[in-house]
Amino acid sequence: MLSFTIMEKEHTVHIPVMLRETLDLLNPHSGGVYVDGTLGGGGHTAEIARKVGETGTVVAMDRDLTAIERTEKYLKGLFGFQWKPANIRFAHANYRFFGEALDLLKIDKIDGFLLDLGLSSDQLADRKRGFRFDSDAPLDLRFDTSEGEPANELLFRLKEKDIADLIFQYGEERFSRQIARKIAERRRKDQPVQTAMELADLVRHCIPPSRETRRIDPATRTFQALRIAVNDELGSLQNVLNEAPNRLKSGGVMAVISFHSLEDRIVKNAFRDNPRWSILTNKPIVPSDEEVERNPRARSAKLRAAYFNVTER
Ligand SMILES: C[S@@+](CC[C@H](N)C(=O)[O-])C[C@H]1O[C@@H](n2cnc3c(N)ncnc32)[C@H](O)[C@@H]1O
Repeated sequence: MLSFTIMEKEHTVHIPVMLRETLDLLNPHSGGVYVDGTLGGGGHTAEIARKVGETGTVVAMDRDLTAIERTEKYLKGLFGFQWKPANIRFAHANYRFFGEALDLLKIDKIDGFLLDLGLSSDQLADRKRGFRFDSDAPLDLRFDTSEGEPANELLFRLKEKDIADLIFQYGEERFSRQIARKIAERRRKDQPVQTAMELADLVRHCIPPSRETRRIDPATRTFQALRIAVNDELGSLQNVLNEAPNRLKSGGVMAVISFHSLEDRIVKNAFRDNPRWSILTNKPIVPSDEEVERNPRARSAKLRAAYFNVTER
């Protein structure tokens, strides 16, 4: 038992959000085939794998190679130690390419699909990635550092107005214009924003104290906006919600945990606009007070789910 406890602590600091509520909705059954598009620390994957058992399959995807490598090692140890290995297939890829992953694995239809959006506590804790406000690492903010443009390069390239629009649109930040002006000023002085810490300090100087800034760091919304932009998070989400019906069995469940109102709106509208979805959560499920106390990062989470009908109602 000792080795199990040590392994569990070492590989991740991420606490899975609304685990019980998610499993209740997905209801993984023995022998079922599920996709977890956001593996992270494997909290949800492990429980789905436990439920499908050795005759079932979980396709676990993540854009972050570090997450895949670390969690794959952990889950293999965990399953080898505790029970017969479930069939978990790991894929380092954007979940929007889940169809290609299923084709490669020769899987036609699936019983369920989970997305737990955003970033993990492991990514946040990693000082080298630039997700932390106090990190002097380059402001990168990509989940997959092998593709796309790091956030500091984006801030160097975009016009001041486009930076302001981006921070306003994806971060819903009222002080976006002031922030963009300061970013442009630094560029003109030949001191472009390079690190996470520099951006966090700059933003803090643009936002007057308020109830919100006493609760969360003033830089939160700006970092979130840039992260959403460099990873095209909303594009991936919209795309997967359009494609998932092509691969879900009749009655197959799609469950999505989101942390941002723009994401939640995309999920809500996608379920509402396709008559083949039967909505399981008329209102989004939110974490209990007890969960938020235990895991404050869960506070803004919203869980929505629907099952897919092959024949239109
Ligand atoms: C909130 S964490 C998931 C945590 C996981 N459910 C657990 O319990 O440990 C989100 C993960 O999704 C990954 N991710 C975000 N967008 C992605 C995408 N478009 N495709 C694949 N992975 C993505 C991130 O790299 C991160 O590891």
